[in-house]
Amino acid sequence: MPIHGLSSQHQTSNTHPTHFDIEKVIRPNILSLLPYRCARDDYQSGILLDANENALGHVLKPDRGSANDYLHSFSSLDLNRYPDPTQLEIKSRIANLRNLKSEHVFLGVGSDEVIDLLIRICCVPAKEKLLITPPTYGMYAVCAHVNDVGIVKVPLVNRGGKQFQVDIEAIQQTIKSDPFIKLILLCSPGNPTGTLIPLSDIRKLLEDTNFKGILVVDEAYIDFADPYSNYDSDSAVSAVCLIKEYSNICVMQTLSKSFGLAAIRLGIALAQPPLIQILSNTKAPYNISTPSSLLALEALSPPSIMSMRQKVKTLITGRGELITEFERLAKLGLGLGQPLGGNDANFVLIPVTERGGEKPCCERSIKVYEELAERRGVVVRYRGDQVGCDGCLRITVGTSEENKILIKQLEDVLRMI
Ligand SMILES: Cc1ncc(COP(=O)(O)O)c(C=O)c1O
Repeated sequence: MPIHGLSSQHQTSNTHPTHFDIEKVIRPNILSLLPYRCARDDYQSGILLDANENALGHVLKPDRGSANDYLHSFSSLDLNRYPDPTQLEIKSRIANLRNLKSEHVFLGVGSDEVIDLLIRICCVPAKEKLLITPPTYGMYAVCAHVNDVGIVKVPLVNRGGKQFQVDIEAIQQTIKSDPFIKLILLCSPGNPTGTLIPLSDIRKLLEDTNFKGILVVDEAYIDFADPYSNYDSDSAVSAVCLIKEYSNICVMQTLSKSFGLAAIRLGIALAQPPLIQILSNTKAPYNISTPSSLLALEALSPPSIMSMRQKVKTLITGRGELITEFERLAKLGLGLGQPLGGNDANFVLIPVTERGGEKPCCERSIKVYEELAERRGVVVRYRGDQVGCDGCLRITVGTSEENKILIKQLEDVLRMI
């Protein structure tokens, strides 16, 4: 069955690996879906009386009442018109940034929408499943539950002296014995582990003939990864370089982290054109709002990309300084362990231990977490209930000033509790 909207060139293109057939992975109702079409798909200019918009314009009047600068800029936009459903310019800039073509790019309302869409297009509720590797990002399980899709867990393991490695053999055993697993969701660098997944591990899963589904690699934090920290022989850290080769990979990225634009909700899926076309056919027609798309376009301009790189550099320096400070506190015997994981994201995962001891202590960690938030004005994330994260706090790298306050308050609290 041809995929609606996919050019004939891509319908027939050769795919690798040969054991992957997208038509067997995508739910039949999605494959046969006739996407929503509007007159604006064909005609974008003229007297626009096709979409039941408000012909008199929007109601925002920044000159009246609470006039803010941002309202002035927004009110000059055609906010009474539905946004562009295709967002080709943003896709082209993302493709440029990541060395792909626009046809490899899909845009969602944050990666969270992409996760939900991938589950919806692949997994039949109450029958098919996704595989996750705890400890990992919580939304995978939430989206699976919302969609009544089963979750299979293969925890990360310590291997070769490195923490939080993907247990490739266990995943391969699991997919062999359970043909209902349609999606594998990996996170690299992981949340909350900060650990990069070697591309050689990802390749093993993509090549595994027992796995007929799609491997999703969530790279929300990839720009914070040190390009030389990968212990593969090739120096690439991002799985994006596998997209042209493999039709069964989908890489997710986002403007929420390195670009500092969590508020505009712009998530990205990168994959071969058939999967991108199916995602586009399934999404709500106008998912990216006009204000968000304008801000995203600006964020993807050369000066803003330079600014992103500068911010990433500053945050990586801050991450190093935080780690040094945590090590100092640990040496003072205040009950803090060594940071866990790879430290390749914009946070550090650190165990709170028994006072004067080395054993992680969840009870004390919760007390530290609550004291910091309730009386010291510093909010971090308690992750001590996650597999392999006993007693851990996940602490986002802040500004230099915020980091200093955090360290001061944490030291005080550790001396007290
Ligand atoms: C691993 C991971 N993926 C995705 C997201 C969500 O990204 P977005 O803001 O694009 O929805 C987060 C947010 O914390 C995350 O940690």
